[in-house]
Amino acid sequence: MNSELDILMELIVKSSHIVALTGAGISTNSGIPDFRGPNGLYRGNNEFEKLFSIEYFREHPNFFYSNFNEMFHKIKNANPNKGHMFLKKLEDMGKLKVIITQNIDGLHKKAGNTNVIELHGNLEKFICISCYHLIENDTEQYKKAIDKMSNKDVPHCEKCNGILKPDVVFFGEYVHDLEKALTEVQKADLLLTIGTSLVVYPASTLPSYIDEKAKLVIINREPTPYDEKAKVVLYEDIDVIADKLKIL
Ligand code: APR
Repeated sequence: MNSELDILMELIVKSSHIVALTGAGISTNSGIPDFRGPNGLYRGNNEFEKLFSIEYFREHPNFFYSNFNEMFHKIKNANPNKGHMFLKKLEDMGKLKVIITQNIDGLHKKAGNTNVIELHGNLEKFICISCYHLIENDTEQYKKAIDKMSNKDVPHCEKCNGILKPDVVFFGEYVHDLEKALTEVQKADLLLTIGTSLVVYPASTLPSYIDEKAKLVIINREPTPYDEKAKVVLYEDIDVIADKLKIL
């Protein structure tokens, strides 16, 4: 009887159009906490849910800027881990065509993957919540915004004096590139979800759009709502799976 891992290996060998859907769990081994895992940010601390609410941010921007600075620098200083390198290898083998990620840490791009859809944005830009002016990360204003955040101050827009926010998607905002992600998922012959609880809309709907002939594989330390539909479910650390698959 083939193990789940053997079946996954067979699926990878046979696939020519793999799509990966990743979440915070792929970055925990890079030192970035997830949200709903055993040591997740949301576990027993509903204060954190307010941190990424756009309504709360509009009313209390100083709450965000007093609490996000440490996480910002932890994310910016993080490096890709074996899970990220596993997906980079799959791209180099011509098998992985796109990564759809819910993560804002940019670690898939840092690992060298070239086709990454960042549904929830990233920390490379700030945006003004009044005039939507975008501040790119190589500008003086970006550096000034980082300095303000380091002093737990609220950065303001140089054009309209509105409040600046990192260009990440807060609860209550539309995600980026959802149509594009949907199109990509429908092209997959194998959808690999890694390190995501698959409970946050709309990313959580994506696995339901795979072609009827496509296979779903879930690599996650804890159960997800899609486990029954998956061809393979591995309740295991992604680094351990990457090691055992021996394709790195
Ligand atoms: N290997 C495998 N699975 C892991 C690992 C690991 N090294 N570390 C954590 N996990 C699992 C956890 O058990 C958890 O089920 O990854 C999952 C991460 O789930 P969440 O914390 O809910 O993160 P995610 O699915 O990305 O959340 C989606 O919610 O708060 C919002 O915008 C935020 O993008 C985030 C979205």
